[in-house]
Amino acid sequence: MSTLVIANWKMNGAVASVEAFAQAWAGVANPEKVSVVICPSFAHLSLVREAMPRWVQLGAQDCSERTSGAFTGDVSATMLSDLGCQWVIVGHSERRACHSETDSQVAQKAQRAQQAGLQVAVCVGEQLWQRETSEHHQVVAAQLAGSLEGVSPEGLAIAYEPIWAIGTGHAASTQQAEDMHGQIRHCLAGHYGEAAESIKVIYGGSVKPATARALFASETIDGALVGGASLEADSFAEIARAGTFGRK
Ligand code: 13P
Repeated sequence: MSTLVIANWKMNGAVASVEAFAQAWAGVANPEKVSVVICPSFAHLSLVREAMPRWVQLGAQDCSERTSGAFTGDVSATMLSDLGCQWVIVGHSERRACHSETDSQVAQKAQRAQQAGLQVAVCVGEQLWQRETSEHHQVVAAQLAGSLEGVSPEGLAIAYEPIWAIGTGHAASTQQAEDMHGQIRHCLAGHYGEAAESIKVIYGGSVKPATARALFASETIDGALVGGASLEADSFAEIARAGTFGRK
């Protein structure tokens, strides 16, 4: 199993910065046993596809739960696949919070994505108060149950992103991540049986070049979903290279 390293650029970037990133990556070789995915905004998908080395996979940050029609502003999974995307992130905590997305909507988005032939990264994660009141296991288990309804294990990844670790500089400790990844694996095995073994469980939340190698060396962490540190070409290249040291 290769290490999966996904960049989530969120609502950042401009034509000039994407071009500069791609220029810096022109000489970057595909690190051994690492799958690298970049998820820019919808506006920059085509540019990333054209400008980045071909071995870098393209992903989107969201897709519609519907297939097509009068849904102004929405982008369908088929459109993403048509543009050359191989991946889509669904259920990011920022979409759950800012757009009130529910687990069942997230499951529908994942289903549409899989129907369009995309691989899907489904995000889950608890808030700080939920961890402080020891509800984090229960919260993540409920998110998984709701968000994976009708979703196939093929081409599926789960991104554990504790909300308190996102953009704060306070990453979960390896121990905290391992503990939750263990429980996620347990839930996945209950949901999918043996087929769950092919599902990658990756960590997101303040992943930095300095911490990536230790993270990837962990038995239960199959990769990372990287926000802030993926915006800078050198730091993301360093994180991608650290994937080679994953124990898989
Ligand atoms: P940061 O790496 O900036 O904490 O963001 C994590 C994230 O939300 C990736 O989806």
